[in-house]
Amino acid sequence: MTTALITGATSGIGAAFARRSARDGRDVVLVARDAERLRRTATELHDRHGVEASVLAADLATDEGIASVEERLGDRRHPIDLLVNNAGFGHRGRYLEVPVEDELRMLKVHCEAVLRLTSAAAERMRERGRGGIVNVASVAAFLPRGTYGASKAWVVQFTQGAARDLGRSGVRLMALCPGFVRTEFHQRAGMAAGNVPGWMWLDADRVVDAAMEDLARGKSLSIPDPRYKALMGIARLAPRGLVGRASSTTGRFSPR
Ligand SMILES: NC(=O)c1ccc[n+]([C@@H]2O[C@H](COP(=O)([O-])OP(=O)(O)OC[C@H]3O[C@@H](n4cnc5c(N)ncnc54)[C@H](OP(=O)(O)O)[C@@H]3O)[C@@H](O)[C@H]2O)c1
Repeated sequence: MTTALITGATSGIGAAFARRSARDGRDVVLVARDAERLRRTATELHDRHGVEASVLAADLATDEGIASVEERLGDRRHPIDLLVNNAGFGHRGRYLEVPVEDELRMLKVHCEAVLRLTSAAAERMRERGRGGIVNVASVAAFLPRGTYGASKAWVVQFTQGAARDLGRSGVRLMALCPGFVRTEFHQRAGMAAGNVPGWMWLDADRVVDAAMEDLARGKSLSIPDPRYKALMGIARLAPRGLVGRASSTTGRFSPR
């Protein structure tokens, strides 16, 4: 039996990774802040799929929270075969409207936690000669979109660089870059996503299925939908100013 550890498993994309992992017969370790909600999800997954589902409540915006997950990832007696660094959030507001402490909290969760947890997992996976790590970024990584986009660009660059460095070790690393996904993300950030056209919304379970396929194929970057693959191709060729204007007005600033 293999084991997956998923951060941000209470809702959205993380919950979809937890469902998919349990359906594939993996035991799961579910990480997020809301312990009660994690316990409900764990019970559901255990009852439906017969896997061991455990809960590790941790706030990844704190050193103690990150350290407790590092410790679990470092446990040689109960190895983790798949790590999904998915926990994350958005901010509503342009630069200087968001307090600097909130920007720093985002960097802690999106960058420091991802670096430390990836490293803790990759060390053990390299010893065993196998394992997979999915770091959830965003198509915002390719767009000028404040600290959020910058933090996700870091996730992509870091993950692809680490994937190359560990190329012959048996450890696979992949950055996952979805577009708009129907989850709690926009509501939690107080963003009005009403101006996002219906065709741009993705389903979390489908995003995860496409990601798992790409991981199995050995990709280090996954953009899990043909529409977004095409859009990102256009964005690469379009004038930077035009891309910036479109990106800063779509699903971001207006209050709910
Ligand atoms: N939805 C989209 O359109 C979209 C698009 C591209 C990329 N993404 C990325 O996908 C990832 C998942 O987002 P989602 O859309 O599934 O959003 P979501 O439904 O709001 O889920 C976010 C998850 O992260 C957890 N989390 C937030 N802050 C945390 C912290 N400090 N410590 C531990 N866990 C924390 C939340 O659980 P608790 O509140 O219980 O801690 C929750 O389980 C994020 O990295 C996001 O940037 C989302």
